[in-house]
Amino acid sequence: MLRAPLLAAARSQRMRALIEAVPVTRSVVRRFVSGSATADAVRVARELAADGRKITIDHLGEDTTDAAQATATVQAYEELLTALSEQGLAKGADVSVKLSAVGQFLPGDGEDVALENARKICAAAEAVGATVTLDMEDHTTTDSTLGILRELRAEYPWVGAVLQAYLHRTEQDCRELSGPGSRLRLCKGAYAEPESVAFQDKSEVDKSYVRCLRVLMAGQGYPMVASHDPRMIAIAGKLAADAGRTADDHEYQMLYGIRPEEQKRLAGEGKTMRVYVPCGDEWYGYFMRRLAERPANLAFFLRGLVTR
Ligand code: FDA
Repeated sequence: MLRAPLLAAARSQRMRALIEAVPVTRSVVRRFVSGSATADAVRVARELAADGRKITIDHLGEDTTDAAQATATVQAYEELLTALSEQGLAKGADVSVKLSAVGQFLPGDGEDVALENARKICAAAEAVGATVTLDMEDHTTTDSTLGILRELRAEYPWVGAVLQAYLHRTEQDCRELSGPGSRLRLCKGAYAEPESVAFQDKSEVDKSYVRCLRVLMAGQGYPMVASHDPRMIAIAGKLAADAGRTADDHEYQMLYGIRPEEQKRLAGEGKTMRVYVPCGDEWYGYFMRRLAERPANLAFFLRGLVTR
């Protein structure tokens, strides 16, 4: 019931100012975000590597309408990849990039700027043995993001992207994109979307997730199962086994701070487990989407407010 207003608040500058001003917010945010500095993300990457978990790091930011900000985001990724490399953590690592953070929404030539900026991040990743995955934002960006994915893959065939099972179109996208060498991260979807483009009912989203999983596991690419849902994880395991897949040709992914014991269990079983680690100061939108996903997170946040 609270999902829609929380997701609307995620895009409100007025709510952002209010929530960022509350002192307790930062301690709750820390559950989901590694910290402000590159060094925080590197520290978390080292901790996760200690029990066999891999990383994809997101330098937080989205909906940029300032070219200088987009350039600063590219530099932050370059710095991050260099720091990971210096610490021996870059090989097999991944970075997750929101195209709206690197210029997709800039007036005029935004898509071209985003493509150029994403290319720079891909070059920096390739130089240190890491990969790049394009996050997927609301449905108005899907075609543009998949178009940029195609352009990037011509030069960097290992670039991956996220697909969202709540969109009606996604099963077909899975069919079209699951060819040789593709890296597709399947999630349920975190934005407020209209009925015209997305399933609204949780059980319909889950059914779509399973249909998409079937396509990806039977396909020729590298499926990345991004979910904390025990049912989806069990079904993915069965479909992977049926398709004769091994731990080297698909993986599981979860968000930093969510179900860490399950992350360790899957890694301990020899499965490839990757954790999405956000870092940076632009945590507001990301944090609000995590609150919207789970009423218990909101209750935790509100309890913190009243017990101060
Ligand atoms: P579901 O929401 O049904 O949750 C299943 C269980 O997981 C819950 O019962 C609870 O135990 C736990 N859980 C889920 N969310 C929680 C939370 N916030 N706090 C605490 N526990 C929680 N979305 C998007 O639109 N674009 C994107 O690019 C990405 N990228 C992405 C990368 C990765 C690696 C992951 C794991 C997820 C994303 N997402 C995303 C988010 C995704 O769309 C979705 O909103 C969340 O993963 C929650 O969906 P679940 O599949 O976990 O199932």
